[in-house]
Amino acid sequence: MFDASQSVANVNVTSTKSVPKGATAVAYAVATKGTVARQLGVNRAGLAANNFDGKVGQMLAVPNGEGVAYAVGVGDPDSIDLAAVRTAAANFARAASKHAHLAINLADLGHLDAKAAGHAVAEGALLGSYRYVGLKNDESGGAKLTDLTLVAADKRSKGVRQGADDGLVVARAAALARELANTPPTYLNAKDIALKAVEIAAATGLDVEVFNKDQLTQMGCGGMIGVNQGSTEPPRMVKLSYSPRNPTGHLAMVGKGVMYDSGGISLKPSNPDHIAMKMDMSGAAAVLSAMSALKALKCKAKVTAWLMCTDNMPSGSALKLGDVLTMRNGKTVEIHNTDAEGRLVLADGLSLAVEDKPDGIVDIATLTGSALRALGTEIACLLGTNQDFVDQVKNSSAEVDEPVWQLPMETRRYRKLLDSAVADMRNIGGPYAATITASIFLTEFTGDVPYAHLDIAGPMENQADSGVQAKGASGFGTRLLIDLACNFTPPAEGAAHTA
Ligand code: BES
Ligand code: MN
Ligand code: ZN
Repeated sequence: MFDASQSVANVNVTSTKSVPKGATAVAYAVATKGTVARQLGVNRAGLAANNFDGKVGQMLAVPNGEGVAYAVGVGDPDSIDLAAVRTAAANFARAASKHAHLAINLADLGHLDAKAAGHAVAEGALLGSYRYVGLKNDESGGAKLTDLTLVAADKRSKGVRQGADDGLVVARAAALARELANTPPTYLNAKDIALKAVEIAAATGLDVEVFNKDQLTQMGCGGMIGVNQGSTEPPRMVKLSYSPRNPTGHLAMVGKGVMYDSGGISLKPSNPDHIAMKMDMSGAAAVLSAMSALKALKCKAKVTAWLMCTDNMPSGSALKLGDVLTMRNGKTVEIHNTDAEGRLVLADGLSLAVEDKPDGIVDIATLTGSALRALGTEIACLLGTNQDFVDQVKNSSAEVDEPVWQLPMETRRYRKLLDSAVADMRNIGGPYAATITASIFLTEFTGDVPYAHLDIAGPMENQADSGVQAKGASGFGTRLLIDLACNFTPPAEGAAHTA
């Protein structure tokens, strides 16, 4: 696997008090009022004459000797937020993508905490520089960035530096998730991602265990085996553990790793949605990538992760409609549609996660087309059983600017849609509220553990570059999960809001 995420990882990120000689593109944050950095070479009147008044999203390139200076709008200085700064840094990096050495002057972000500003700027610029090169023979479309320098005054340089280090760790993780999901399905099967996970675990201080098909059979993981049985590629389940000393809590994460979702016997039509099904492992990619950042960020919670990896294929040996599977926790499921496979692999992962008695379980999955139809391509659906835990997910979502919206976990009203005549439940709940019925299905496997579910079918892929997002796989959820783990506290008791 060619790894363009390495281009993010290998950027040399530094901080200095003046613009370094080698930087050929330099950004100056300009707010809607206040001073304009003298080095930009244009004053406020000059900017205004070019229709630039410092609003978020505005950018003006000013030729400057051998290089180019950019005025980058960051909006009202009194209400400036980190998301705007992160996005502005990303837009600058994209506009200056022909340059190898970028510098960003943070002087006009003085009212933001130095560490937070350094983090947002580095993360944004690095993610804005990410491009998937893939298997093109012409690699000239790839990222050129080799050096990123954040320029800040002496008294803020330490904070900016620390923040930039964290920003690099987070951006690198998100780029890894994008890279994994962008990779064509034959280039990244379940065995491949398991090998990658072992490599990443060794490099980032995690314990790792890989389970093969025989082991999954022995463990009674009927969901994994059932979904895999039509495929010539064997399944893999990966358990990753991050165990700091004196942990402040224990969080479990489960990721849907359907390496390619053809629908199985309930075959999908050959449309663009089907082509995107190489990305049906985006949940597992987000979990693996988030785990890779925890030690470097000194996360205080213990985190255990489960990647549930297999193809979903049609064949003579494939799962049949009307068949019944017995899942890891002993519950039986009648198959009414083999394309509702994500919940089957998650069921085993959630059951295993519960056995470790964590304080909370979050799963992330490209689970339902219904989530895409409900909230579109920019917002993920969030459901859960415990409101405190759901609120922690919402806080992280806001912090990293990966938007989510909570739907009601209406078990009391909709559980009956999953009733089966021959098993404990069926695997689909009918045409309506499919995101909700899918998540109710999953709660059959989460016991009494506070549970939150992220359905990322909508934001898994971008059709175009925009802000920190690049065309192709989004890596959505990676940054959210990192923030969630790093701020996790065992949730207080209390059911989640319902309708
Ligand atoms: N992986 C798909 C969901 C999906 C659709 C993700 C579009 C991203 C974009 C999932 O496995 C699936 O096929 N879901 C079906 C379930 C249905 C058969 C109950 C769906 O949502 O149509
Ligand atoms: Mn499917
Ligand atoms: Zn799927």
